[in-house]
Amino acid sequence: MSDHDPKNEAANAMWGGRFSAAPAEAMRRFNASIETDKRLAEEDIDGSRAHARMLAAQGIISAEDEGAILAGLEQISREIADGAFQWSEAFEDVHMNVEHRLSELIGPAAGRLHTARSRNDQVATDLRLAVRTRLDRLAAAISDWQRALLGLAADHVETVMPGFTHLQPATPVTFAHHLLAYVEMAERDKGRALDARRRLNECPLGAAALAGTSHPIDREATAAALGFERPCRNSLDAVSSRDFAMEAASAASFAAITLSRFAEEIVVFSTPQFGFMQCSERYATGSSIMPQKRNPDAAELIRGKTGGVLAAFQSLAVTMKGLPLAYSKDMQEGKAPALDALETVEDCLAIAAGMTAELMVFPERMAAAAGVGHTTAVDLADLLVRRAGLPFREAHHVVGRLVALADARGTSLSDLPLAEAQGVSASVDAEMLAALDPAASVRSRAHVGGPAPEVVRAEMDRWRTALGGA
Ligand code: ARG
Repeated sequence: MSDHDPKNEAANAMWGGRFSAAPAEAMRRFNASIETDKRLAEEDIDGSRAHARMLAAQGIISAEDEGAILAGLEQISREIADGAFQWSEAFEDVHMNVEHRLSELIGPAAGRLHTARSRNDQVATDLRLAVRTRLDRLAAAISDWQRALLGLAADHVETVMPGFTHLQPATPVTFAHHLLAYVEMAERDKGRALDARRRLNECPLGAAALAGTSHPIDREATAAALGFERPCRNSLDAVSSRDFAMEAASAASFAAITLSRFAEEIVVFSTPQFGFMQCSERYATGSSIMPQKRNPDAAELIRGKTGGVLAAFQSLAVTMKGLPLAYSKDMQEGKAPALDALETVEDCLAIAAGMTAELMVFPERMAAAAGVGHTTAVDLADLLVRRAGLPFREAHHVVGRLVALADARGTSLSDLPLAEAQGVSASVDAEMLAALDPAASVRSRAHVGGPAPEVVRAEMDRWRTALGGA
């Protein structure tokens, strides 16, 4: 980073009037937020454009100054995009770097841009805009992952696999049904992101430092120009609230948790012990010592990055919990965690979508596992209820004894000799034992939300319509 000395040698040119000493070198570095603020540059310039236009429309600055300011901002925007802009730690943050450059470009008119404005309402505006863009991208990335899940599910409506509780075999489901559970979870995550977006969409500009301004500003105009729904209704709240960033980090956290659970399953299900699936080579890596290895690193990294995302929410929350109204510099520390969390989850979603689309699935392994561990025991109990009229609790007990018998003989429920089964309960018949096929079990659960193929097909149609493009 190149260091420009402030014009005022003694102190900062922007606020140095009442100072006779420059900041200590360590303080200057400590105080600067330039590295994070570079990510807010476009938003900062957009905010300044809207502010300058409003000032001119209200007769607070001249049309001539407005023209010079807008032309200067245009050039600065180009310089930043081209990487030619000289960021200086001496000017602390993006706001003062831009203003300083503007003064180099257009002279004293640059000094009129900050009329009726403070860095406090500027930074709150910039961060809202940056978080808003990222929430939109997060929501879009969630939809992309959902489409990838649906695309994979399309091939597996009849792929029977064990459903688990406690990661112990429980009751058969299908892989499509399993995948659609994540589509549902992701939809709620998206809803939280869009909900946070809706609530943050109010414009702080005009709150100035904390108490507004005596200039005849038009806050509706700046809010509209920046795509906000309305101005923030209280100037103190406008500059001192970061709950929008916390909410965004929280929405990102929810999405990360969903992704992390999915990733965990990929890790587990792609072990040879399960053998249900394998990541495509494009989303796996090898070992530098063990030539046979094919590790599901993409999934592990998604799981791993979730820790940092959750920490971002904590970081913001702990920063905010002790702050009195209105602005305090502590808030400067909250910008990077919020942006990082949103960007990290967006990355995770893109990787998850690619990994999902290319997942290699082994239906025969899933089907073989689907019957292991007496996963249709409930079906047998249900048959005893329906066909023999047993109370469910009694049927449960009978089947429990049959399971113990089958385990003692090292066989499955359906392979128990009928005579032995009837020794446990006379209500058991051959047809019941024959009906204990995992695929039949899945087909029998055909109510709303069940795994039966026709139900899952209808759910997939519903999702295709809702999401488009899958
Ligand atoms: N760099 C500050 C931040 O990121 C901008 C606001 C500073 N305001 C102030 N009065 N020092 O939060």
